[in-house]
This record gives sequence, structure tokens and C-alpha cells, in this order.
Amino acid sequence: EYTVPPALPEKIIRWFQENKRDLPWRQDQEPYHVWLSEIMLQQTRIQTVIPYYQRFIEAFPAVEDLARADEDKVLKLWEGLGYYSRARNLHRAAKEITVHHGGKFPGSYAQLKKLPGIGDYTAAAVASICYDEPSPAVDGNVIRVLARVCAMKDGDIHSPQSRKQLTAMLKAVYPDANSGDFTQGLMELGEVVCVPNGPPLCSDCPVHSLC
Ligand code: ADE
Repeated sequence: EYTVPPALPEKIIRWFQENKRDLPWRQDQEPYHVWLSEIMLQQTRIQTVIPYYQRFIEAFPAVEDLARADEDKVLKLWEGLGYYSRARNLHRAAKEITVHHGGKFPGSYAQLKKLPGIGDYTAAAVASICYDEPSPAVDGNVIRVLARVCAMKDGDIHSPQSRKQLTAMLKAVYPDANSGDFTQGLMELGEVVCVPNGPPLCSDCPVHSLC
């Protein structure tokens, strides 16, 4: 019943490329960097994550360094972020990557999803940002943006069913090029323009005409 406007991706991608915030995990498309940032960002705000991310990368510059670390040290660096299962799964996944994949990150959504702590969202985010795979990563921001663009009836937009439906709608328009910019642009739009609390800043929005 709802569809994503086909012109949405190009507008969001251009807006993101011109307006993206300079964040430490946006300096390259290294899957270890993107993975770590996405795990940290799942239950934690960007401004809180930044110093944790920087200390973590300094302590463990590569996934093999994380794999070799003592769990105590990993948890110590996580202290204050909460949801410690994230850190334990990160550590376990780093060991799997090092032992079973020779240190090379799994190169697709399907392979990523087999790792501990990596579900639909994280696998799709890493695959689109690092490998340009057209895999929609649907978080709360993306749900809100699409619900507003499509004027979806309120109520249960965050239910697992709606999430599935939104993922399918997005997949139908996901671009094969700059997929990661589309993924991050949707999230970023939800964080800085199509904000959750208070009225959205529609006069700053690149997709106002489609909404
Ligand atoms: N929130 C979670 N991941 C993000 C990303 N890669 N860019 C912007 N906001 C995010």
C-alpha cells in the first residue's frame, strides 16, 4: 500500500555527500571501523560514542588486536557504555574473524550475519557502507523518516512487521552505487533534520518535495 518515492535515494545521497558530519568512523570504509561504530551506536548517542570509539581503536588498531585482547581489557574500555553483551559479542566475533576468516572481514550481508552480535541491522549497515551492497539498514531514525515521507498511519510503525515492510519497500529503491551514502544519509537525516522530538526541520530537508 505504501511505496518509497523512487527519487528519494539520489536526493538523500547528494544531501549526505554535501552535509555529512565529520565523524571518526567515516574516514574510510574499513569494515572493522564501521562495525565497531555501528555496535557502539546501537544504544548510545553519537557524542557519547566518539571518545569511546577513539580509545577502542587506539587500544586495538586492527581486528586481530581485539581478538588477542583479554576480555577484561575489552570490558574496561566499554565501561560506561552499558549493554556489555555488545562488548562480549564484539570480542567473540573478532576471534572468529581472526581464526576462521584469516583476519579478513566477511564480505557480504549473508556472511556478516553469521557472526555473534551481528543481526539484520548491523549486517546491512556494514554491507552497504563498506561493500556498496544494496542492503537496507533500518533503525529507529530510518523508520521515522520513511513513516513521515510516506505519511504512514501512526501506531505500530516500530513493530517487527512494519520494520519488515519498510525494509522491503526500501530494498525496491536501494541504489547499487553509493549504497552506503544512502544508508548513512537516511540515518543522518533522521538525526539532524527529521528529528524525533519536536517538529522536524522541514525547511532544511532535501526531500521536502517528496514528503
Ligand atoms: N547512527 C547509527 N549509525 C550511523 C551512521 N553510520 N551514521 C549516522 N548515524 C548513525
